[in-house]
Amino acid sequence: MTHTPLHNKVAVVTGAGRGIGRAIALAFAQAGAAVVCAARTAAEIEETAREIERGGGRGLALPADVTDLPAVERLFAQTVAAFGGLDLLVINAGVSLESRPVEESDPNAWRATMEVNLFGAYHCARAAIPHLKARGGGKIITVGSGMGRRGAVGSSAYSCSKAALWMLTRVLAQELWPDNISVNELIPGPVETSMTGAPTARQGPAFGAESEWIKQPDDVAPLALFLATQPAVGPTAQSFSLMRRDG
Ligand SMILES: NC(=O)c1ccc[n+]([C@@H]2O[C@H](COP(=O)([O-])OP(=O)(O)OC[C@H]3O[C@@H](n4cnc5c(N)ncnc54)[C@H](OP(=O)(O)O)[C@@H]3O)[C@@H](O)[C@H]2O)c1
Repeated sequence: MTHTPLHNKVAVVTGAGRGIGRAIALAFAQAGAAVVCAARTAAEIEETAREIERGGGRGLALPADVTDLPAVERLFAQTVAAFGGLDLLVINAGVSLESRPVEESDPNAWRATMEVNLFGAYHCARAAIPHLKARGGGKIITVGSGMGRRGAVGSSAYSCSKAALWMLTRVLAQELWPDNISVNELIPGPVETSMTGAPTARQGPAFGAESEWIKQPDDVAPLALFLATQPAVGPTAQSFSLMRRDG
């Protein structure tokens, strides 16, 4: 018999068109959730939604740019219209647009990284909260990064965005605990995706110590599922990491 711990739950996963977000969307659907797949590239999220339906699940692709607050508000309104509510939000959409030291960096790329990784997360949380409250509770999972703790040369925009995302996670958790909404951070550690590049990039600085576990996106999904299935009195304001070393 199929194990469906997310039966009757409705999830929105941002950045579900590829990489980690796609793997989490497929895992949540397999666990019984109706999953809204959001990102800018319609063809990619439509493919994820089709894959969910091929597996017998309920998936819906809703294109949205997380930097656009009205678009994000429409995303959640359309989710509720389609599936009747919202229980789970995975704030996964992210970019890493600048890899040069601060002195040589492009301010526009710096700002654009913040716009997606921090403001995008803020927009999603802000727009989702009323819908989660209407259900009497729920869960928000932010996808953070070890770079948000330790930083690295050339990663100022990305690392600062993820450090701030961790603080947003903490503050949201404190604001929302009376409403039975838990907010936790998931740190995947190095995963082979279009963000980190092909396997040849393994030795690059993005992957840090050679002793790290280089993952495929599917390796991250079980931790997301764990967080999504914790009881209402379960962890909040916590960070869960798949890394093998500090931060
Ligand atoms: N891969 C790693 O090693 C690693 C490690 C630690 C943390 N992370 C984090 O994990 C998350 C997923 O990363 P990934 O490696 O899976 O990257 P990815 O393969 O590049 O996927 C990123 C996803 O985010 C979406 N996205 C980007 N900008 C967006 C926007 N403005 N609005 C809506 N969606 C947007 C992309 O779709 P569109 O471009 O079509 O919008 C895509 O679906 C990110 O937050 C990343 O920082 C990754």
